Amino acid sequence: MTNRKKPKVYLTRRLPDVVETRMRELFDAELNIEDAPRSQPELVAAVKTYDVLVPTVTDRIDAALIEQAGPQLKLIASFSNGVDHIDVDAAARRGITVTNTPNVLTEDTADMTMALILSVPRRLAEGAHLLTDRKGEWAGWSPTWMLGHRIWGKRLGIVGMGRIGTAVARRAKAFGLSIHYHNRHRVSPATEEALEATYWDSLDQMLARVDIVSVNCPSTPATYHLLSARRLALMQPSSYIVNTARGGIIDEAALIKCLREGKIAGAGLDVFEHEPAVNPKLVRLAMEGKVVLLPHMGSATLEGRIDMGEKVVINIRTFFDGHRPPDRVLP
Ligand code: DGY
Repeated sequence: MTNRKKPKVYLTRRLPDVVETRMRELFDAELNIEDAPRSQPELVAAVKTYDVLVPTVTDRIDAALIEQAGPQLKLIASFSNGVDHIDVDAAARRGITVTNTPNVLTEDTADMTMALILSVPRRLAEGAHLLTDRKGEWAGWSPTWMLGHRIWGKRLGIVGMGRIGTAVARRAKAFGLSIHYHNRHRVSPATEEALEATYWDSLDQMLARVDIVSVNCPSTPATYHLLSARRLALMQPSSYIVNTARGGIIDEAALIKCLREGKIAGAGLDVFEHEPAVNPKLVRLAMEGKVVLLPHMGSATLEGRIDMGEKVVINIRTFFDGHRPPDRVLP
């Protein structure tokens, strides 16, 4: 960094040791040793004091907070791919740059998506629980017991064919699923050809035709409840839905209703509308074997978290060297 004075950097959560060590070496960094989420008064104090805020998806960096920032706050370098927890417009109005950590959690999130695609129809969580609930007692194999549904040959409908959606498609193709997708823009002919993917301009039509839906689009005002009650009702009763993106993209109450009424066969959810609260009705459905629930761990690998930390470091350094940071998020 050309500016010799180290920027004052405020981390809202604990990060892997190696990342915190880098932060301490390079910046005047305030770590969060407790790892309890920072309170709103702590965040207010931080935006009045620090040059850089490093939030995660568990912090709400809304307009009310940003408006209280002092003139020293120049950068919000989020330790996240998604930026729906940050009011990017409000930051822009205050001349504060926002960055995120794209690319480095694509493959990990696609792995977890694929794991849910496999787990729900094949009753993986249910089977695993059966053994532990029965403390290892099991009467043995039976031709008619624990029958799930075949994945090979089924149609996967990907909602959002960005980096993660495309990585899911690559995996799913290898598992014998045919790839269908809905996206704001059609992907390149080369990608479509490589994935043998069918583009659906109409999300409604795609939902009615596929066997498994995978939600992989970002959370924006435009995608809030994209999977609405009306759209969920278009899905086939034998179909499944998997979400590793953001809870609010699916109308969760409507999904619960569809699952209870047998209008959708099952769901695999890594994200929830009111995270970290999980609707008890979903927990009940999980106990009945209709859904698999995970605690937002799509990108939770040590390697991924270290790569995310390195991206945050690069974004901060580049910014304070007077250049445009590589992962700048535009309003
Ligand atoms: C992100 O960074 O957006 C992820 O959801 C966190 O794992």
